[in-house]
Amino acid sequence: MESNDYLMESEDEISRLTAKTDGKALETQARWAGVEPGMRVADVGCGPGLTTALLRDIVQPGGEAIGIDRSAARIEHARQHYKAEGMRFVCRDISDSLLDLGQFDFVWIRFILEYFRSNSIEIVKNISSIVRPGGLLCLADLDYNCLTYYGIPPRLERTIHMAVRKSEEEANFDPYAGRKLYSYLYDLQFQDIRVNLYPHHLIYGKAMEADIFNWAKKIEVISKKFEFLFGEYPGGHDEFREEFNAYFRNTGRFIYTPLIIASGRKPL
Ligand SMILES: C[S@@+](CC[C@H](N)C(=O)[O-])C[C@H]1O[C@@H](n2cnc3c(N)ncnc32)[C@H](O)[C@@H]1O
Repeated sequence: MESNDYLMESEDEISRLTAKTDGKALETQARWAGVEPGMRVADVGCGPGLTTALLRDIVQPGGEAIGIDRSAARIEHARQHYKAEGMRFVCRDISDSLLDLGQFDFVWIRFILEYFRSNSIEIVKNISSIVRPGGLLCLADLDYNCLTYYGIPPRLERTIHMAVRKSEEEANFDPYAGRKLYSYLYDLQFQDIRVNLYPHHLIYGKAMEADIFNWAKKIEVISKKFEFLFGEYPGGHDEFREEFNAYFRNTGRFIYTPLIIASGRKPL
């Protein structure tokens, strides 16, 4: 695959992203980061639009939320499903200039920089250009993404780690995006920087259906993309998937992934 293709692209990506969005968690995170009624907000890499709709509700009355994504299919879905005053969606590549969209009081980018390992600082610089002086830029991403499992069979863990390594090398994926966010804001001389850490995945006991769907999709999409060798599985991909599903449904396993959020103010 090309390194600038979106790693998780699949025909089920609209359902995966919608199902895994926890509206309450997003609201808590966005309010902590400084979103307030009346603001003009950009949701950079908005996917199928649910996150933009949630941000739009927080900025009422009087505010506006614009969702930006490169996927024509997800933007079309967003336009069809989330219609309200003070909200619109634009199909754009966030590597390109976004200056024609105007200036924003708050720019939010969540679960995107992990797909830009080698050039995330360029993306951050680009989106910082649409934050108005005195406005807020909020970067949110995972750390140790797909790497923290306990109670996992060793060959399963080795195979998953190999898939993550391949994603780093061949698809520009960054499993350690979260830990870099503070420094990006610091280096760009943002002020009043605050950082918070939330448990994004905290999976023990019975897994929720949304988590089972999300992780099964991740495994399916990534393993299909790389066709990586299931050398430790005589039964190939099917045996690997069966072992993963059994691990995921075992109520004694433990999985966590920290979400790191950094929010800072653009100098006047
Ligand atoms: C994991 S989703 C994030 C969705 C949402 N931000 C959330 O918090 O759930 C990543 C999104 O980034 C978009 N994306 C990836 N590369 C992009 C690019 N170069 N320009 C614009 N959007 C991009 C993908 O199309 C996808 O919808």
